[in-house]
Amino acid sequence: MAPASAVWMAMALLTLMQQLSQISGADLGVNYGTKGSYLPCPSQVINFLTNNMSYAIPLVRIYEPDTEILEALKGTNLIVSMAVPDPEIPQIAWDDNYASTWVNTNIQPYSDIRFRYIIVGSESIPGPNAGLVLQAMRRLRDALAPFGLLDHVVITTAVSAAVLINSYPPSAGQFSPEYVGLLGPIVQFLYDTKAPLIIHVYPYFALASDPEHISLDYALFKPETPILDGTYRYFSLFEAMVDAFAYATEKVTGAMDVKIVVGETGWPTAGISPFANMGNAYTYNNNLKALVKSDRGTPRRPDLNLETYIFELFNENLKESLDDQNFGTFYPNFDHVYKLWP
Ligand SMILES: *[C@@H]1O[C@H](CO)[C@@H](O)[C@H](O)[C@H]1NC(C)=O
Repeated sequence: MAPASAVWMAMALLTLMQQLSQISGADLGVNYGTKGSYLPCPSQVINFLTNNMSYAIPLVRIYEPDTEILEALKGTNLIVSMAVPDPEIPQIAWDDNYASTWVNTNIQPYSDIRFRYIIVGSESIPGPNAGLVLQAMRRLRDALAPFGLLDHVVITTAVSAAVLINSYPPSAGQFSPEYVGLLGPIVQFLYDTKAPLIIHVYPYFALASDPEHISLDYALFKPETPILDGTYRYFSLFEAMVDAFAYATEKVTGAMDVKIVVGETGWPTAGISPFANMGNAYTYNNNLKALVKSDRGTPRRPDLNLETYIFELFNENLKESLDDQNFGTFYPNFDHVYKLWP
């Protein structure tokens, strides 16, 4: 074998091995929001993730069926989750044909994209369309079958901690009485269709709103002593928050096996002082990543494959609050904001 082709083979093999190890070990993803004025174009972003990053982040979530992003994703091995924007929920829920049109426009043409979840509303509960989420989920799921997509695409929805009334201790976790009438049937639908509930978990916001009762160390995965809940020992607020959702789903279904996926979590580099800063963002996301990679689930759900999407790729300067503008882990020129990704 000529030396050049031997080198090429070795490099190809190495890349393949890296991809395999990263894809099998990690259920780590990233959120790709686009409310920023100076962001690179979608083809550059997807090219960077696939080529330069060699799929070190194998899962990507987008917030709407943006055709430019979808075109760029075609033919890649990224696993893609996509939200149905809230304003589209009423038409999907009410109009007999619209779910089918939606699938026909936004999923069917992209047969070479590896879709995982279609997320009907991102934090639409609470909200004006909260009462229509389940109906829209049902319609979209029914619309998948004629396209032969039922086995490939999972219909779900995403909720934030705003739907919980109690989350401390985790075993007290339950959906707020205001929303339990909506969430009970939604969680049952997810259970029946073997779909996960997508949750958004922000220890940063919990800490910033209650610094008297929550320690920074606990929020950053490094408490000196664990916090006990019955026989469970919690070493992070993140795990406690995930388990509060787990308990809440158990209470409305009577079953322990509604899967949970963390669709958003992260820490801003600017926002509420003294919590939002570069050092804390670095510590939070790196410790989070280590937990996800460790594959040990949470105290309540040790077998849970803790699929987690870090919020987010880039800062979004067009969002409203300072925190929300500063969760990015890459600069628009693809430099790392702090060391997190390989
Ligand atoms: C990505 O890789 C290409 C080819 O190796 C290189 O030219 C480019 O500068 C890299 N881009 C970034 C943002 O690292």
